[in-house]
Amino acid sequence: MTSLNAESLKKQLSGKMIGHHLLYYDEIGSTNDEAFRLGEKGAPEGMVLIAESQSSGKGRMQRIWYSPPGANIYTSVILRPPVGTLQSTQIPIAAGVAAAETVNDFCPGRAWIKWPNDVLIGGKKVCGILAQIKMSGQAVDFVVVGIGINVNLAREQFPHDIQEIATSLAIEAGREISRPELIIRLYENMAKWYRELTRNGFTAVRERWLSLSEMIGKTISVKFHNEAVSGKAVGLDEDGSLILLTANNQNMTVSAGDATILKEVNTYATGN
Ligand code: BTN
Repeated sequence: MTSLNAESLKKQLSGKMIGHHLLYYDEIGSTNDEAFRLGEKGAPEGMVLIAESQSSGKGRMQRIWYSPPGANIYTSVILRPPVGTLQSTQIPIAAGVAAAETVNDFCPGRAWIKWPNDVLIGGKKVCGILAQIKMSGQAVDFVVVGIGINVNLAREQFPHDIQEIATSLAIEAGREISRPELIIRLYENMAKWYRELTRNGFTAVRERWLSLSEMIGKTISVKFHNEAVSGKAVGLDEDGSLILLTANNQNMTVSAGDATILKEVNTYATGN
């Protein structure tokens, strides 16, 4: 199994916009928590944390992110975008695009984004993103983008309760994947989309997200705590919210929650 050679990663990422400062941990609570602490102490933009395992890996909606050693990627990057609050919520969308493109580099044409930024192959989750924003008054101080990718985990190594909904790159590609190569691609793609966002705005990021999204045009339900809303997913708003067309033909936006496709909308005439 390819190990995570921190020295070689440092060399390969030196001088890059993302990864020029790289911290490696054999084990950590959560790379996001540590990145947030370092961000508060003034850590520079582009600092990357990578861990072999996490004892308290965090997912969205207060979930636990399964983080055993030896097989996966757990990483966080600190960004200090020159943008306002609205645009800072576009960063996790750009990160989702970068992660989906990276997964596609290893499993061509098979990765899709589930709103807001889960990456799925064949309907099963292979990568999750947790972004945390630190504000200073009205200004964005920094954003931590945490990314977890299931890389070389075999099916039987997943906990039973997620075996049906999660997968790994190795399962899908049918071969072991080099984690260092994956990290390098991930941060190259991330730098590309972050640069696009901060220089030219949201247009190209949104277009790419829409082209990678499996939900647009489909009827979906979004659950947030005990409430659920449903409608046809028709677009992505400026702040990364999902735009739904509801049954009474009204547009509504949802900014957080778990989205599920309810049924496919058949847009083809059957000829019957
Ligand atoms: C999700 O629920 O889909 C988001 C999962 C994010 C997991 C990553 S692993 C690296 C970073 N550190 C954490 O504690 N969480 C993120």
